[in-house]
Amino acid sequence: MSETTAPDKHNFSAFCGYHQSGEGAPNEILTRTGPQTPCGEYMRRYWHPVCITSELDDKPKLIKVLGEELVVFRDGEGQYGLVHKKCPHRRASLEFGNCQQKGIRCCYHGWAFDVDGTILDIPGEPQGSEAVARTKANLRLGAYPVKEFKGLLFAYLGPPEALPEFPIYDTFDIPGMIMTPYSVHFKCNWIQVLDAIVDPVHTAFLHQSQFSDGFGMMGELEFYNRQSSRFLGTATRRVGDNIWVRVNELILPNFTQAGAAFAADGTKIRHFGRSAFTRWVVPLDDENCIAFAWGNFGERGDPLEWNTWEGMQLIEQGELIDRSYEEKQASPGDVEAVESMGAISDHEKEYFVPGDRGVGMYRNRIRKFCRDLEKGESPPQPADLADGVIPTYGSDTILNIPQRDDQDETALLRETNTKVMDIIFSNDHLDGENRDNEIIQSIQAIR
Ligand code: FES
Ligand SMILES: [Fe+2]
Repeated sequence: MSETTAPDKHNFSAFCGYHQSGEGAPNEILTRTGPQTPCGEYMRRYWHPVCITSELDDKPKLIKVLGEELVVFRDGEGQYGLVHKKCPHRRASLEFGNCQQKGIRCCYHGWAFDVDGTILDIPGEPQGSEAVARTKANLRLGAYPVKEFKGLLFAYLGPPEALPEFPIYDTFDIPGMIMTPYSVHFKCNWIQVLDAIVDPVHTAFLHQSQFSDGFGMMGELEFYNRQSSRFLGTATRRVGDNIWVRVNELILPNFTQAGAAFAADGTKIRHFGRSAFTRWVVPLDDENCIAFAWGNFGERGDPLEWNTWEGMQLIEQGELIDRSYEEKQASPGDVEAVESMGAISDHEKEYFVPGDRGVGMYRNRIRKFCRDLEKGESPPQPADLADGVIPTYGSDTILNIPQRDDQDETALLRETNTKVMDIIFSNDHLDGENRDNEIIQSIQAIR
C-alpha cells in the first residue's frame, strides 16, 4: 500500500514563484534598431550584410533591415540595388516590379529607377513635358549604397556624409581558405544572438555534446576589451596532455569570429587555427535577426567535408535548425536557447555572475556609443583598428603541455593563456600571412 506523505509546510516559505512572477522590461536602448532610435542610428553608421547574392534571380526580393522594409535586386548590367519598398509615385511595392537592363521598373505605372534612386523613366506622361522634367529633378526613390563581396551583399543605411570605409579583415584572405556564404534566421532580438559570442560558459553546457568532449570543459575564462570596440572571451582548457586556448571575438557593433567547430577538439596540436565562421548578426526588426556569414573551410578553418548547408547549420548553432520539438528538447542548439527567451528578452530579470562579464562589457559599450552619437560623437569604425587590413584574433591554439607536479594546474592554464594572447596581440603591426606566420612560429616555441 502506498503512503502519501504531506509536504513539509515549513519549506514552503522558500518557494518564490508568486513573488517573482511577471515579465521584466527589455533593455530599450539595445533592443530597438528601427529608424530614429538611438541604437538604430548607431547601427546605421556601419556596413552590414543584408543578402546572399546567389539568392537573387531576375526578380526583386523583399527584405527587412534595421526595421525598414526594402527591396534588393540585380539589374541586367549586373548592378545591385537596395531601395525603399514603396514607389515614390503612388506607393506600390517594388517587390512586384521588374528588373530592367538598367535599374528597376514599378509594376503599377511603369516608372523606372536607377540603383541610386534616380528616376529614369515616367512612361505614362508625355515625354519632354514640364511635369516629367520637374518630377525627375525633384523626386527620387530612397536608395542605399551596397557592395558585393564574396557572395554577400553589404549595405550602408546611414547618412551619406558619414559613409564609413568598408572594413577589410585579415580573414577575408587566408591562403587556401574556401569561404561559403550562409545565413540563419533567428526569431528574436539581435542582442540575444550576439551575446553568445562573448559567453564562453554557454559552450561548455549547451554545446558540450555537439562538437567534441573538449567543448564540455569549462576551463579558465578570461575577457579582454581592446581598442574600445573589440571584445574577446577566451577559454583555456586541459584535454589530456594538451592545453587548448580558444578565442572568441566581437568587433562592435556585430562582427563575430571564434575558433573551429570541428577541426579543433583539444586532442590534435593546432597553432592559431582560424574561425569556423566570419559572421555578422544583423537585426531585421526588433524581433528578428539574421546571422550572415561565410563558413571557412580548409587547412586553417574547418574540414572541407563540412562545406555543406548541414555543416554550416552545425557551425552556426551546434544542431540542425529544422527539427521536431522532441529533437530540440533532446539536444537544443543556440536557436532554442535564444529564441526561448522570447522575441525580445526581458533583460530586467537577468541575473549576472562573473562568467557573464563579457556580455555586460560589450552591452555597456554599445549603450555608451549610442549616447555619444546622440551628443554628436561618431562611434569608432572597424577600419580605425588598423592602417589597412584589420588583424583579428578568433582562433584555436592547442599545445602539448602536460600537467606539472610542481605547478598548480589553474596557474598553468592561466599562464599558457597569457603567453598565447601576448603573442597574438604583439603582432598586430604585421599584415595577413606574415602576421599569421610570426604568431604560429612564436606559439610553437611556448613550453
Ligand atoms: S506607384 Fe509606382 S509607378 Fe505608380
Ligand atoms: Fe553557441
